[in-house]
Amino acid sequence: MQHHQRANFGSRLGIVLATAGSAVGLGNIWRFPYMTGQNGGAAFILLYILFVFLLGIPGMVAEFVVGRSAQSNAARAYNRMAGRTPWRVIGYLGVFTSMIILGFYAVVAGWCMQYLTVALTGGLETDATQVANYFKDYSSGTWVPILWTIGFIVITHLVVVRGVRNGIEKASKLLMPLLLLLLVLLIVASCMLPGAMRGVEFFLKPDFSQLTPNVLLEALGQAFFSLSLGTACLCTYASYFGRNTNLTNSAFQIAMLDTIVAVMAGLMIFPAAFSVGVNPDSGPSLIFITLPNVFGAAFSSAPAVGYIVSVLFYFLLALAALTSTISMHEIGTAFFHEELKVSRGKGAIIVTVICCIIGIFCSLSNGSLSDVKLLGMNLLDFCDSLTAQVLLPLGALLTCLFVGWYIPKQVVKDQVTNWGTLPSWRLKVFLFAVRFICPLCIISIFLHQFGII
Ligand code: TRP
Repeated sequence: MQHHQRANFGSRLGIVLATAGSAVGLGNIWRFPYMTGQNGGAAFILLYILFVFLLGIPGMVAEFVVGRSAQSNAARAYNRMAGRTPWRVIGYLGVFTSMIILGFYAVVAGWCMQYLTVALTGGLETDATQVANYFKDYSSGTWVPILWTIGFIVITHLVVVRGVRNGIEKASKLLMPLLLLLLVLLIVASCMLPGAMRGVEFFLKPDFSQLTPNVLLEALGQAFFSLSLGTACLCTYASYFGRNTNLTNSAFQIAMLDTIVAVMAGLMIFPAAFSVGVNPDSGPSLIFITLPNVFGAAFSSAPAVGYIVSVLFYFLLALAALTSTISMHEIGTAFFHEELKVSRGKGAIIVTVICCIIGIFCSLSNGSLSDVKLLGMNLLDFCDSLTAQVLLPLGALLTCLFVGWYIPKQVVKDQVTNWGTLPSWRLKVFLFAVRFICPLCIISIFLHQFGII
């Protein structure tokens, strides 16, 4: 039974690409620019990059180790390796966190879908004030945003259940390079707008006096969110890796690609934002109130090109979001299927229903429920902060401790060195990172957040 499902996950190369597809998504193109904008620009980026390499890569490898050695869904992987010890909570935590993320992520993916349809009909606003108003009007609406949110979760559901993932992964293998190419084009277009250089400066010239107290946690959360780390998502994917997959190299390559896409997205957004007078700390609306200006202003002499570029861009963005939502959905689906012993289809329905409910409330939190505040945030922002700044670092922390201190060293050694075929320095560096560096850094950042250090 298990083998049957595992078999339809495609080739080995395919699965590493699928993991990269999970990492690259709205986290890079939507969340990274808005976080950077809210946290003072270049100084935040330096911290972010530091955390990706210092904490993110070891954290990814730790999840890979658990996933590939246990060969099963997230919760069971931890169950199997943790026995009846409390460590098994890591798997459940991952399932819980990934469903909250999918709920609010689908709202944003739904915004992309709306922009795609508007771009297709040629109705994208091009005047700066109208662009901003359009976003506000649209996102505070009730029915259409909800329908797109549910629509996006249902599309994800169908892909997860039908096992057409393979097709999607193949398609994105072709289309992701196109997204990179389009990003390059948009960076150039954005930098050519009048006054764009102030945006480039904001993005590249660190001003450490801009750093606010909780910027450490924000950068940490962004790094983990973008790498899909902390929910056992990578663990689920790694359970499909082949014996020859080099875990450390794969983690490094995925992290590099992910960071490059994020930095490119920033270089596309900020020059344009400064040029048209969009405030860099506009929050989640940032890319939606900035980009249409680029399509309009930069291509004003060639509207047909602007049309094609805008349609392609939103299409590729939605696809990148889809490869990420698939990975989130998969965690819950595999969990309910294997743990509740229901069919995969039923497992997927449970996930879809829960996520749709979360998604509906998050969508409404921009409109009719905008007065409902949790810790001063609307529900969407609250779910975003709760997951990125609390649940993901917590999941990653526990995973590092689990792999570093609990599971037998021989298991870790086999996984990191591919049963002794890779040099053992990898193991030493990895163990040092997951035993000491990652836990100490994450705990210090948490304590710092609470004002203790
Ligand atoms: N990393 C994805 C992005 O950048 C989002 C994502 C997919 C994710 N799966 C995840 C985030 C699991 C946290 C956990 O868009």
